[in-house]
Amino acid sequence: MTKLPQTSSLHTHLCFLLFLLLLLISLPGEFPKALYNCSKLQYLNLSQNSFVGKIPDDIDSLPRLQYLELAGNYFSGDIPAAIGRLQELRNLQLHMNSFNGSVPPEIGNLSNLKHLNLSYNTNLVPWNLPSNFTKLKNLKNLYIRQSNLTGELPGTLGEMAALEELDLAYNSLNGTIPSGLFLLKNLSIIYLFRNSLSGDVPQVVEALNLSIIDISENDLTGPIPEDYGNLTKLTELALFLNGFSGAVPASIGRLPNLKQFRVFINNLSGTLPPDFVRYSELEGFEVSGNRLTGKLPDHLCNWGKLSTLVAYENNLTGELPSSLGNCTGLTEVKVSDNGLSGNIPSGMWTAPNLGQVLMSNNSLTCELPEKISWSLTRLEIRDNRFSGYIPTGVSSWNLKGSS
Ligand SMILES: *[C@@H]1O[C@H](CO)[C@@H](O)[C@H](O)[C@H]1NC(C)=O
Ligand SMILES: *[C@@H]1O[C@H](CO)[C@@H](O)[C@H](O)[C@H]1NC(C)=O
Ligand SMILES: *[C@@H]1O[C@H](CO)[C@@H](O)[C@H](O)[C@H]1NC(C)=O
Ligand SMILES: *[C@@H]1O[C@H](CO)[C@@H](O)[C@H](O)[C@H]1NC(C)=O
Ligand SMILES: *[C@@H]1O[C@H](CO)[C@@H](O)[C@H](O)[C@H]1NC(C)=O
Ligand SMILES: *[C@@H]1O[C@H](CO)[C@@H](O)[C@H](O)[C@H]1NC(C)=O
Ligand SMILES: *[C@@H]1O[C@H](CO)[C@@H](O)[C@H](O)[C@H]1NC(C)=O
Ligand SMILES: *[C@@H]1O[C@H](CO)[C@@H](O)[C@H](O)[C@H]1NC(C)=O
Ligand SMILES: *[C@@H]1O[C@H](CO)[C@@H](O)[C@H](O)[C@H]1NC(C)=O
Ligand SMILES: *[C@@H]1O[C@H](CO)[C@@H](O)[C@H](O)[C@H]1NC(C)=O
Ligand SMILES: *[C@@H]1O[C@H](CO)[C@@H](O)[C@H](O)[C@H]1NC(C)=O
Ligand SMILES: *[C@@H]1O[C@H](CO)[C@@H](O)[C@H](O)[C@H]1NC(C)=O
Repeated sequence: MTKLPQTSSLHTHLCFLLFLLLLLISLPGEFPKALYNCSKLQYLNLSQNSFVGKIPDDIDSLPRLQYLELAGNYFSGDIPAAIGRLQELRNLQLHMNSFNGSVPPEIGNLSNLKHLNLSYNTNLVPWNLPSNFTKLKNLKNLYIRQSNLTGELPGTLGEMAALEELDLAYNSLNGTIPSGLFLLKNLSIIYLFRNSLSGDVPQVVEALNLSIIDISENDLTGPIPEDYGNLTKLTELALFLNGFSGAVPASIGRLPNLKQFRVFINNLSGTLPPDFVRYSELEGFEVSGNRLTGKLPDHLCNWGKLSTLVAYENNLTGELPSSLGNCTGLTEVKVSDNGLSGNIPSGMWTAPNLGQVLMSNNSLTCELPEKISWSLTRLEIRDNRFSGYIPTGVSSWNLKGSS
């Protein structure tokens, strides 16, 4: 079912009739060149239709276009260089099409462009992010998720002064992350996960508006930057599945808005800062598969919001955080294969949505409680020093080896 192209500038009766005609035909075929009659057109939205064929090489016959939205169609071939001549363009949405050619560097000439979306164009010939794109000094949103980007990021990425959201996830980018990126004052979201980026991450961070950093699933190495501790708006830090080493900086433990801390499967060592997230409403704490030692921070669930505690396969010792005893949001506690000892805070067992508790291969000593959350579906506590009552009625128990 075709939707009418929307327009904010139907200046002429001719254009009005044209749209009626388009509605009557109601058959999206190739790009409707008849629209060229409406040379004053500023706003064209043909998104979510079934248009096929190429975007015409003379698309600049609509020189006043400010919004060109062609997302969710079957446009194929190259994206024409002529798009770079639509000098009034503010918003260019080309995501989810069937382009099987190239992306023109001329897009970098669109000096008024604020929003560019090329995501989910998985048939593009593998391409490098053109350094010309970094001339887009008014661009706020750059989305090129899962669109066959390869090679290195342009070193000039940090010149895109207006950038607020960058999404280049699910590509094959390699090389290092340009240091300029973390200096951008207005940047709030960085999604670079699932690429092949390598080397140390930039240690100097002045992008104080950052709220999400997700650079997980790359080959990044070196220390976690101290400066992340200055990002008071940060809610999500995802560094998992990389080669980060060294200790978790104490400064990160003081972030007031952190909700997700996900650093599992790296080479992190040392102890976790004892005051970690004392003042934030943490929801996810995932540090498994590192070489961390010492205690888990006591305050992980100060606000009762913690949902997942995943810390298995480290060398953690000491007792479980006492705040787990008053942690109504808890759904998962996975701390197997450490050297934890002492009692389990008894309140933990009554968290109403507690689903999985994996504690095998530690030195935990307590008795199991008589009251246990009804929602528990998985409990593994073998190779510990539990004693006493063994509750019944949970689907899968693995208590072997307790003594
Ligand atoms: C409108 O566009 C069609 C197709 O491009 C063309 O044949 C026709 O001459 C145009 N009419 C005017 C008035 O420009
Ligand atoms: C363009 O059209 C699509 C599909 O109808 C719609 O989802 C989208 O919100 C429209 N864009 C704008 C800016 O209104
Ligand atoms: C685009 O920019 C290049 C130089 O960066 C220039 O050669 C070309 O003429 C520009 N095109 C337009 C349409 O402005
Ligand atoms: C691109 O896709 C179109 C439409 O499916 C097809 O006709 C054309 O041959 C393809 N071109 C290349 C280079 O694969
Ligand atoms: C891309 O940028 C380079 C260097 O600034 C310039 O020489 C070239 O003309 C630009 N290309 C286009 C197509 O704008
Ligand atoms: C851009 O594409 C993404 C996919 O990366 C989509 O989820 C998002 O809604 C698009 N953004 C806009 C502003 O259209
Ligand atoms: C583009 O990327 C997709 C995965 O996102 C992949 O399936 C496809 O083979 C790639 N195309 C080329 C030409 O490399
Ligand atoms: C950054 O954001 C502020 C506040 O929205 C705005 O005034 C400023 O122009 C932006 N900076 C750039 C370089 O766009
Ligand atoms: C990035 O990948 C390209 C091939 O796509 C290769 O030529 C280049 O050497 C790689 N660069 C790095 C830094 O690994
Ligand atoms: C981060 O804070 C430390 C002091 O807490 C300061 O020395 C450093 O310059 C700050 N970095 C930035 C980028 O503001
Ligand atoms: C834990 O420490 C022991 C000895 O101190 C060491 O052999 C083992 O490899 C460490 N485990 C991890 C996961 O680092
Ligand atoms: C448990 O946490 C709630 C808030 O989540 C707080 O009001 C209450 O005082 C805490 N109780 C104890 C015993 O710490």
